[in-house]
Amino acid sequence: MREQPDEKQLFYNRHVFFCINERKAGHPRGCCADKGSVQLRDYMKQRAKQMGLKGIRINAAGCLDRCELGPSVVIYPEGTWYRCETRGDADEILDTDLRDGFLVDHLLMAPPGRNATE
Ligand code: FES
Repeated sequence: MREQPDEKQLFYNRHVFFCINERKAGHPRGCCADKGSVQLRDYMKQRAKQMGLKGIRINAAGCLDRCELGPSVVIYPEGTWYRCETRGDADEILDTDLRDGFLVDHLLMAPPGRNATE
């Protein structure tokens, strides 16, 4: 089993990947971009900067393969998955998880295999 890296070994303490993948209209899996993820990711990045959060990187990501549950966000090193549909959701993830270190329970995605769409 791999050990969790010490915080001092990490280049970023928390690394956020926000899916902005876009597919052609009518694709059976849909895509996060159609649900506003590009604007939400930009908002989250801008607000994180305004908040002065240190050691946190918010990156655009390609498809994270949880399309039906998105807009998909995953935060490492913990591997916490969120559905981020609104600016309010982005604010909660920033304030509660990234700043204060608590999970935002009502935005958590079900673990793989525990959701009817997977
Ligand atoms: S399109 Fe966002 S997870 Fe697949």
